[in-house]
Amino acid sequence: MRKKITIVGSGNVGATAAHWMASKELGDVVLIDIIPGVPQGKGLDLLEAMPIEKRDSFVLGTEDYKDTANSDIVVITAGIPRKPGMSRDDLLNTNYKIMQDVVGKVVTNSPNCILIIVSNPLDAMAQAAYKISGFSRNRVIGMAGVLDSARFRAFIAMELGVSVENVTAFVLGGHGDTMVPLPRYSTVAGVPITELMDKSTVERLVQRTRDGGAEIVKYLKTGSAYYAPSAAVTEMVEAILKDKKKILPCAAYLEGEYGIHGLFVGVPCKLGSRGIEDVWEIRLTDEEMAALKKSADSVKELVAVVGV
Ligand SMILES: NC(=O)c1ccc[n+]([C@@H]2O[C@H](COP(=O)([O-])OP(=O)(O)OC[C@H]3O[C@@H](n4cnc5c(N)ncnc54)[C@H](O)[C@@H]3O)[C@@H](O)[C@H]2O)c1
Repeated sequence: MRKKITIVGSGNVGATAAHWMASKELGDVVLIDIIPGVPQGKGLDLLEAMPIEKRDSFVLGTEDYKDTANSDIVVITAGIPRKPGMSRDDLLNTNYKIMQDVVGKVVTNSPNCILIIVSNPLDAMAQAAYKISGFSRNRVIGMAGVLDSARFRAFIAMELGVSVENVTAFVLGGHGDTMVPLPRYSTVAGVPITELMDKSTVERLVQRTRDGGAEIVKYLKTGSAYYAPSAAVTEMVEAILKDKKKILPCAAYLEGEYGIHGLFVGVPCKLGSRGIEDVWEIRLTDEEMAALKKSADSVKELVAVVGV
């Protein structure tokens, strides 16, 4: 039987994620939203592309959670995106209310699913979903690190004029201004970028990565990035459905790892059929550890506001 993936929110990120996932034939895709007709229209349109793509993914758009029943994975993208001048944190209260509306309905209909949260502010929304769902921590995952690392990888590849396939990178911490790109663990064909670029070039690319979301918002004006974010969540879905045991930076609920307790923070995770199957505790320098703690503190402030 094909796997079932539900995507809540069929806006820019949700619909584009459906596109990537159906094109890769990862499973059947259900798109759900509260705007009447929009998920149905986008779902049918995508379904009609499948004969051309030579894929047998079935795509359904709906406003009814019954259609999402028994999903293997549910990706939550419902929520408002930021506009120029806004930080991700400005979305907190509105998106928390949406999370309260959505998560209970998802869980009632798909009690065994794995939840992947995309809505911002990411780490706080993942924490809300974790608390509302009552799921074990391996089944609630936040998407941010794969995106932030992909941005870093793209900038490294452009700077050095090499294939993106040669570049790996790690960005840990919360999905915000305090995110922690790790140049020491970012490599080109296995060579750390700190051996390939001078310090100021590394710093420039790190800063562009931190500002990566804002750079796109500034261009778009009416919303935020969605091609790279939806590709990032697709990589996570693929790793889980194919039980790839892939090491990816994800927001995970930490219970003492890196000295952080009871909080979602971006760390290297092993993704397989059980969701987060392991959290890797890589060795960090004092400076990197301090940056991770600072990032965790800003997540802590946000979750305190909504009390999750
Ligand atoms: N984690 C990341 O790295 C990352 C990256 C990009 C975007 N985001 C976040 O993802 C979210 C979606 O971004 P977007 O660009 O797709 O926005 P969008 O406005 O294009 O789409 C959001 C959709 O959610 C729907 N929605 C709102 N309330 C809902 C509810 N209660 N139930 C179901 N659907 C509901 C809206 O109708 C809309 O279609 C935003 O919060 C954005 O900040 C996160």
